[in-house]
Amino acid sequence: MILVTGGAGFIGSNFVLDWLRGSSEAVLNVDKLTYAGNLGTLESLSDNARHVFVRADICERAAMEALLVEHKPRAILHFAAESHVDRSIHGPTDFVQTNVVGTFTLLETARAYWNTLPAAQKSAFRFLHVSTDEVFGSLSADDPPFSETTAYAPNSPYSATKAGSDHLVRAYHHTYGLPVLTTNCSNNYGPYQFPEKLIPLMIANALAGKPLPVYGDGNNVRDWLYVGDHCAAIRRVLADGKPGETYNIGGWNEKKNLDVVNALCDLLDTLRPKGQGLYREQITYVKDRLGHDRRYAIDARKIERELGWKPAETFETGLARTVRWYLHNQAWVDEVASGEYQKWVEDNYAVRV
Ligand code: NAD
Ligand code: TYD
Repeated sequence: MILVTGGAGFIGSNFVLDWLRGSSEAVLNVDKLTYAGNLGTLESLSDNARHVFVRADICERAAMEALLVEHKPRAILHFAAESHVDRSIHGPTDFVQTNVVGTFTLLETARAYWNTLPAAQKSAFRFLHVSTDEVFGSLSADDPPFSETTAYAPNSPYSATKAGSDHLVRAYHHTYGLPVLTTNCSNNYGPYQFPEKLIPLMIANALAGKPLPVYGDGNNVRDWLYVGDHCAAIRRVLADGKPGETYNIGGWNEKKNLDVVNALCDLLDTLRPKGQGLYREQITYVKDRLGHDRRYAIDARKIERELGWKPAETFETGLARTVRWYLHNQAWVDEVASGEYQKWVEDNYAVRV
């Protein structure tokens, strides 16, 4: 079987659902179930004997060791992280703990387990670390996109902790020979994304008749990738990636935030028209994020050249699929957006007026 950490979060759950649809191999899904992890997302797997869910914290070494010894996975796919930049600005402690200490703990337990494996299993074992393009910092309008050799220059507590985890992963290969793979991906969107992130937040606010809060001038650029394409890329890297290598994954979809929000408004005008007026009228400009990175863009030629992966969705097809999914799954949004999330909305947006 494979072990997935963070498989109740946005990308991890999409990965687990896709994996179990496309493969006969079982998944051990280890997740702490923070605010961002939701078992409701995995409801369709409740009768699936190939999905084993364990609530555990990757920082707990004994628990992670016991899971490896009991289940003997052939690979670890490490998605678990604190992932929201705005939260890392308000409170970085959990980011250092999970992203740095948690990844370190997982590497230590993986190394100890890997050392006990017979030679053939040892050489086939993989530790795949899921990281972000944000470790490379911010681009100007005319800079070339990030490649695998771009120097690290993280700017937020989130990206700094992800950069720290990437360095540890690299060091475990270089020092101990652990067969690691690292992927650095651009902004994902799609089903089951927590509504604190740009695209699901704007859909939810639009439908609720609330303001659509665009940070700063709305001209920050992100390179958007449909989550299903990201999961396909990770499967390719797991199957054929070369240990010790890093792979950049992106959608070739650079968009200004304002253009993304306008596109969402236009889709909603067609799919769920308001009685009166247009969704664009709800757009409001709010105080910018501290240290807001201006532009991210990924050069994804290496993974295409070496592993034959490229995204299947365009931004237009992926966004339309996503909006339709949110329109049909508002009960999921209501469930995850209750409780703690309401306090977050107050903390993050009250200070921006
Ligand atoms: P997410 O916040 O939606 O999910 C994170 C999951 O990890 C949650 O289920 C949470 O409960 C779990 N988790 C957190 N701390 C844990 C701990 N200590 N022990 C066990 N589980 C814990 O995040 P996501 O958007 O799905 O991102 C997944 C990974 O992909 C992250 O490593 C992130 O840095 C990376 N990434 C995300 C994006 C994006 O656009 N979302 C882009 C590139 C890379
Ligand atoms: P986000 O989804 O938080 O991803 P990241 O910061 O990891 O790129 O934000 C995407 C972009 O959207 C980013 O430039 C910040 C901007 N943004 C807003 O303008 N308003 C919002 O309410 C949010 C959450 C983000």
